[in-house]
Amino acid sequence: MSACTPLIRIKDVAREFTLGTTTVQALRGVTADVARGSFQFVLGPSGSGKSTLLYLLGALDQPSRGSIEVDGRQIEKMTLSEKNQFRRNEVGFIFQSFNLLGNLTALDNVLVPFLPVGVKPGLRRRAEELLDRVGLENRKRHRPHELSGGEQQRVAIARALLKQPQLVLADEPTGELDHSTGGEVIGCLRNLNTDHGTTVVLVTHDESYIESGDQVLRLRDGKIVDQQQA
Ligand SMILES: Nc1ncnc2c1ncn2[C@@H]1O[C@H](COP(=O)(O)OP(=O)(O)OP(=O)(O)O)[C@@H](O)[C@H]1O
Ligand SMILES: [Mg+2]
Repeated sequence: MSACTPLIRIKDVAREFTLGTTTVQALRGVTADVARGSFQFVLGPSGSGKSTLLYLLGALDQPSRGSIEVDGRQIEKMTLSEKNQFRRNEVGFIFQSFNLLGNLTALDNVLVPFLPVGVKPGLRRRAEELLDRVGLENRKRHRPHELSGGEQQRVAIARALLKQPQLVLADEPTGELDHSTGGEVIGCLRNLNTDHGTTVVLVTHDESYIESGDQVLRLRDGKIVDQQQA
């Protein structure tokens, strides 16, 4: 795949949810590209379809219509096991609530996706290096309740990065943090983006995190109302 081919191509994607007799059109024909190595913000009011779009990009959900291509492969054509593999090996997810396991240390929380298959020493070393990189060198043995919100989110970032994903999907990763802690968390993701070329798609309500050069996509009522470079 050439460097200038978009990493993600979203073509006329719709997602409807039917609950009883009510149908919610969460996305109504969204078409967009996400460039390889870009820092892509997704903005829009509550209910505009931001999380729905992010879940579709991560193969956590299926579109009702349209197609999503990631690195040349159409997600909707993947088998269940291909999707599982894609999610496990290629995508780092970061959510608003950090989803850490309370009885595990920061280090084991980073390693958690690999605990069932066994952790080789090299992987443990990498997990430690990632915790160093997100500024948690002195918190590796702490459990989540012994960490601040920002520190917990940085553990979640390290966990998402351990598999060296080409794509990180973050749904309001700063939603539970004060503004300056949120800025530090976004800073960690920016370093990843500049140092490793990892494509980051980040949903937020807070426009002040946007910097020049970022890509910005705005949704309203399930449609794109604006897409440009900041
Ligand atoms: N599983 C579901 N079943 C039914 N409706 C849903 C489901 N998920 C989302 N919706 C509806 O789809 C619309 C878009 O939801 P979505 O979660 O994508 O919004 P959002 O932009 O992420 O909002 P917020 O900023 O509040 O997180 C909403 O009206 C929501 O109620
Ligand atoms: Mg949401």
